[in-house]
Amino acid sequence: MMNKNIGVYIHIPFCIQKCNYCDFVSFTNYGLEDKYFQKLLMEIDLLEYDGRPINTIYFGGGTPSTVKPENIELVVLKLKEKLDLSNLVEMTIEINPGTCNNDSIGKYYEMGFDRISIGVQTFDEIMLGKLGRIHGEADIYKTINLAKKVGFKNISIDLMFGLPGDSLERLDRDLGIAMDLNLQHISTYGLIVEPGTKFYEEQKKGVLKLPEEELLLNMRKLINKKLSKFKFSRYEIANYARVGYESKHNLIYWNNDDYYGFGLNSTSKIRNLRFKNESDLNKYINMDNFDKHNLEEITNEMEIEEGIFLGLRLLTGIDLEDFLNRYKIDIKKKYEKVLGELLEINAIIVNDKMLKLTDYGMEISNYCMAKFLS
Ligand SMILES: C[S@@+](CC[C@H](N)C(=O)[O-])C[C@H]1O[C@@H](n2cnc3c(N)ncnc32)[C@H](O)[C@@H]1O
Ligand code: SF4
Repeated sequence: MMNKNIGVYIHIPFCIQKCNYCDFVSFTNYGLEDKYFQKLLMEIDLLEYDGRPINTIYFGGGTPSTVKPENIELVVLKLKEKLDLSNLVEMTIEINPGTCNNDSIGKYYEMGFDRISIGVQTFDEIMLGKLGRIHGEADIYKTINLAKKVGFKNISIDLMFGLPGDSLERLDRDLGIAMDLNLQHISTYGLIVEPGTKFYEEQKKGVLKLPEEELLLNMRKLINKKLSKFKFSRYEIANYARVGYESKHNLIYWNNDDYYGFGLNSTSKIRNLRFKNESDLNKYINMDNFDKHNLEEITNEMEIEEGIFLGLRLLTGIDLEDFLNRYKIDIKKKYEKVLGELLEINAIIVNDKMLKLTDYGMEISNYCMAKFLS
């Protein structure tokens, strides 16, 4: 069996203001920051670590760049003390435009972060306002320039589309600007209206004007066309990178490998066990042990389904021999009928070695994935 990679995710659940579309677990209560970090350090300390060397570390949120860099550093030091980082190949921190300065970005670089992921969302000032972001267009350029200046050579941005009142022209402008910024990685996100958000309430009242399905499809096509033209390879359905700059941490998720999650609401997956952390901030900061009571066993059947869904998201698709060795099933035999149907509409490519979605298959990926469930 192929050796699994292993990643570490650290959740920083603080944001200056809640964005209108976001249901990530994050709070504006910075008064609890120090207590939260004390607990986070304790949680890492109490890990029953099996000694496997760690490949990637990812600090996400929330907005890690809005807490004290000293707190981030304490966690980095704790990870160095507790874990074997001799095989570390990537260490990412998510930052938001307008929340960093020369000093804080410089500190992240000195701590060992070598990749920065910036929540740009859009370069359109009016749309940024609609989304409830705290930054403007100029803050984005300032933040990217600062990151480059202190030495970051692996910069990723998040871009959103399918937004209220959205248009192909707006998206095209965003993509054009992104192409001029000399970045290494772009993640694209179609808006999902999540319960509990301001957009959800507006949708319920019928005042949220979202693009029709056809426009969304054309937006996905435009992203793919424009980014490929500028030598960004679509290595995953929604992620594009210059050669060698694919997110190694996210590849751990997509390859169905193992990861430790620390902090509020984070998930760990180690071998055939999954564990979801406490999601209530007050409960988390008052925890006195981190015994894993609610472990979920991942059955072989679940592993197979997840392996297919995650593998199909990747441009490289599913390596059939690897899949057979790992999950003990022959996909071509088990899903013969589904594969036949998807081949007929030109949504997949199957040969002796691999199974993958075509460009068209990626456009209708939800439909393709659902076929494997039916
Ligand atoms: C972990 S989140 C937050 C990162 C960072 N705090 C920020 O806001 O820039 C990562 C990305 O998910 C995307 N996202 C969050 N909520 C979303 C939603 N409801 N629909 C689509 N994309 C979403 C945004 O692009 C965001 O940058
Ligand atoms: S999108 Fe980012 S900044 Fe906005 S609320 Fe969500 S986590 Fe916080």
